[in-house]
Amino acid sequence: MGRILLTGGAGFIGSHTYVELVAAGHEVVIVDNFSNARRDVIDRLEVITEAPVLFHEGDVLDKRFLEDVFRQHDFDAVIHFAAKKAVGESVEQPLLYFQTNCTGFATLLGAMKDARVFRIVFSSTATVYGNPVSLPCAEDHPIAPLSPYAHSKVTCETLLRQLKESDDRWAYGILRYFNPAGAHDSALIGEDPNDIPNNLMPYIAKVATGELPHLNVFGNDYDTPDGTGIRDYIHVVDLARGHVQSVNKLIDEDDSHVLNLGTGTGYSVMDMLRSYEKACGKELPYKIAPRRAGDIDCFFADPALARDYLGFEAQRGLDEMCRSSWNWVSRLRNR
Ligand code: UD1
Repeated sequence: MGRILLTGGAGFIGSHTYVELVAAGHEVVIVDNFSNARRDVIDRLEVITEAPVLFHEGDVLDKRFLEDVFRQHDFDAVIHFAAKKAVGESVEQPLLYFQTNCTGFATLLGAMKDARVFRIVFSSTATVYGNPVSLPCAEDHPIAPLSPYAHSKVTCETLLRQLKESDDRWAYGILRYFNPAGAHDSALIGEDPNDIPNNLMPYIAKVATGELPHLNVFGNDYDTPDGTGIRDYIHVVDLARGHVQSVNKLIDEDDSHVLNLGTGTGYSVMDMLRSYEKACGKELPYKIAPRRAGDIDCFFADPALARDYLGFEAQRGLDEMCRSSWNWVSRLRNR
């Protein structure tokens, strides 16, 4: 087992990964600037894991801060989540995305190098593939980023490859996520967007709690069985387990890898809505709205490589994603 630095460990995927890492016996230290996470996530992680959480508040752009963290702990590996992730916002503010995602990552890698920590799991996205030319989408699908956000992730992936070519001590796991959904079984952590959500599941969740009046279904004339967009939703706890398997592989074998984390099964917007209705026990209002710019009809992973290489397989289905999301948001509202 190892000592692991988790940047962005208070965020949605980061917090779930923290829980799975601790359950797997790792010693984990969180770094987070709480720019998109609530401070009480730390307390909640302590409740879930029944142990104190080690964390440092600070920014990955702050080299001094990072040096100080690396001085205080002797890490075997880093898992890097701390980044910005809204496609639309990245179009408005490309500089912010380059700075946080690319410069922040380069700063972290510099601090790692100085501290002689060479193993890193990097949080990437299936958005790097752009519009799919073949489905299911495997890791050798062409890379064609369409937004500053996607570009920032491609830049980081490229930097990792170049670093490894320059110095073979580096070992990386690049994980390209499909669409994360759901929440922890405890209903103590989950996705908690401050603003009106851009993504489908948190939007449906706010319709279910009554915070938003109805779902806008962005187009029902896509080339899919019910006309609405199809995506590969993966339970965030499965996604978190994928990180544990990736970092274990690095610690045990120093073997670099680039993997999709998805289920291989696509669901439509209407499938999601129906499953959420089942979970919350009521009908959810929706309206058919125009297509959202840049959306595609269908996108899902080829999960075979992650299965063959890591033994990773998603275990939780759509109903579990909706049920856990509903448990989380209905409690969140009542607290
Ligand atoms: C988006 C991001 C992607 C990110 C992914 C997971 C864009 C262009 N891409 O992908 O970078 O990796 O989220 O976080 O933003 N939908 C509705 N109504 C809504 C919201 C969504 O009908 O209010 C539909 C969309 O048209 C799409 C599906 O639901 O068919 C999923 O949308 P979303 O959750 O935003 O994910 P992606 O578009 O796949």
